[in-house]
Amino acid sequence: MMQNILVTGGCGFIGSNFIRYLLEETDFAGRIINLDKLTYAGNPENLAGIDEKFAQRYVFQKADICDRAELQRIFREFQIDTICHFAAESHVDRSIAGPDAFIQTNVIGTFNLLETAREHRDRLRLFHHVSTDEVFGSLGKEGAFTEATAYKPNSPYSASKAASDHLVRAYYKTYNIPVTISNCSNNYGPYQFPEKLIPLMILNALERKPLPVYGDGSNVRDWLYVRDHCAAIWLIMNRGRRGETYNIGGDTELPNLRVVQLICDRLDAILPESGAPPRRELITFVKDRPGHDWRYAIDFSKLRGELGWTPAESFETGIDKTIRWYLERREWVERVKSGEYQNWIKAHYG
Ligand code: NAD
Ligand code: DAU
Repeated sequence: MMQNILVTGGCGFIGSNFIRYLLEETDFAGRIINLDKLTYAGNPENLAGIDEKFAQRYVFQKADICDRAELQRIFREFQIDTICHFAAESHVDRSIAGPDAFIQTNVIGTFNLLETAREHRDRLRLFHHVSTDEVFGSLGKEGAFTEATAYKPNSPYSASKAASDHLVRAYYKTYNIPVTISNCSNNYGPYQFPEKLIPLMILNALERKPLPVYGDGSNVRDWLYVRDHCAAIWLIMNRGRRGETYNIGGDTELPNLRVVQLICDRLDAILPESGAPPRRELITFVKDRPGHDWRYAIDFSKLRGELGWTPAESFETGIDKTIRWYLERREWVERVKSGEYQNWIKAHYG
């Protein structure tokens, strides 16, 4: 039985959705220890209300996964038996501008976590590592990534995630640490930091600012609603075979330009402004991202066949929920965009 689950990066986009999912939607009866450094991407407000509602079953610890002594303290103090490892530097453009933090957190931090798990292996039930489809590199027009696809990462971000995947696998093979790994496609949904394509486009379009599409907008991503990702991770943690990797995807391949057009059209329908031009006219083609992977597509037949998982949300329903969430959460948006959430973090956590 999983009793004390350490969730790293629980104040980020997917981590916070995962904690909410576990506490609010599953029969998990144990305790969650959320360990987060609170970088620019970590926002405790993403979990507002959770500590009061689940006071006995939710603990927050501000810590850095690069700090081994802190990891050891947390493992001891909270008797950690399970790890779900989200903490990472996650944004490709930032990894191009400055890769250092990516190597530190994604590689060294994951190594520290694995070492600490190894030191506490007597109690350890599972180390689940959350990874990305970007480790496989770029596809042409045909085909999809399977679990057997060779790793060919193209950005400092994906190379650092690939390194961490290899470390996790090595700890299973060498030390028999019980691990599972998931490689997922692009997520979208509530609480995503507005540097990523979908929230950035929603918020810019709302303010009628330019919508910067890299290159010609033909790059293809496979979109997955974040709650579906959370459900897949929980299923793998419970029923996935130890030592195995599982791909997770949304079956929703779309060129970036199409995604942005759909967002514009939905916003025009939800928030019509008489006399204003269609929001599609805000689309601006800008200089391409260096080394920009052209296409990702995920074959998740292993996850579907072994564990029966399929995504519940279509892109149409998922994007509608997401747009409405950003419309209804103007205060969260304002605090994130103005940087005010960082002042709050400094005041509370130093
Ligand atoms: P995010 O950037 O929104 O959140 C990352 C979280 O990790 C933040 O709360 C941040 O404060 C924390 N963090 C960063 N460095 C840390 C450190 N050294 N110690 C402790 N905490 C630290 O990221 P996300 O989009 O939620 O992604 C979560 C995980 O899922 C990442 O591992 C990412 O590679 C993977 N992933 C993301 C996507 C996606 O589309 N967003 C898809 C597939 C896989
Ligand atoms: O595939 C999974 C990955 O998806 C995760 O591992 C990463 O953590 C996550 O950030 C995401 O990476 P991408 O680079 O695919 O996401 P991003 O939202 O940055 O970009 C999506 C696509 O949109 C990509 O082809 C680049 C393009 N883009 C992005 C931005 C921010 C634009 O055209 N304009 C933009 O302004």
